[in-house]
Amino acid sequence: MIRLNPVKSLIELRDVWKNYGGSEVLRGVNLTVGEGEFVSVRGKSGAGKTTLLKIIGLLENPDRGEVEILGRLISRLGDNERSRLRLQAIGFVFQFFNLIPSLTVLENIELPLALAGVKKHERLKRARELLDYFGLAHLAGRFPETLSGGEKQRIAIIRALVNNPKIILADEPTSSIDDENSQLLISLLKGINSERRVAIVLTTTDLYERLPTTRDYILKDGRLQAT
Ligand SMILES: Nc1ncnc2c1ncn2[C@@H]1O[C@H](COP(=O)(O)OP(=O)(O)OP(=O)(O)O)[C@@H](O)[C@H]1O
Ligand SMILES: [Mg+2]
Repeated sequence: MIRLNPVKSLIELRDVWKNYGGSEVLRGVNLTVGEGEFVSVRGKSGAGKTTLLKIIGLLENPDRGEVEILGRLISRLGDNERSRLRLQAIGFVFQFFNLIPSLTVLENIELPLALAGVKKHERLKRARELLDYFGLAHLAGRFPETLSGGEKQRIAIIRALVNNPKIILADEPTSSIDDENSQLLISLLKGINSERRVAIVLTTTDLYERLPTTRDYILKDGRLQAT
């Protein structure tokens, strides 16, 4: 008999706990996200949304509980393997964009590929293609401080996409831009989600924001509640 070892889910969290300085931010989070899913996590400021995304994004370790990304148990991986998995599988759109001010738009987009050891020629090609695809080629040589908030957001999303990730984590991507730009951004994410089957976990503080999600949660008292 052939033994198949299918990846059940892209993200699997089991009973994840995290405390900072004595306060329990996450108190037993369970979450399963499969290919092509678009999941929202809504919660008040301080509820632990960024903490949760950092744990999924392998930027923080939980105090207790298990994290599996692409079927791999994170606690079993060494630092190098963990970084490699993060660079290959995950695109992160940070709450405050985290564009590097001393790098141009094009260089910012190239950055995840540079960290992953991709050759300059290939990096440039891929970054330019994406900028073209999103109609933002004219911004390539600009520095982040000269961009509008909406432009920064879109560049941050393009940067999260450049390594062809299976998972995109978007931390309050619509919090600091106007309604029109928010809708543009959400439809951009939805397009990526449906066309490439990328799994998306998006956070927002807005309990009522309409989102094209496949599943919605509220993060409250350190736990995820389905809505
Ligand atoms: N590195 C840290 N050290 C100490 N406390 C932290 C750290 N990171 C987060 N916290 C605390 O954990 C709690 C949850 O923070 P987190 O950033 O996850 O909330 P959030 O839901 O993302 O909030 P917001 O919507 O304001 O971004 C907060 O009380 C915060 O002060
Ligand atoms: Mg946050």
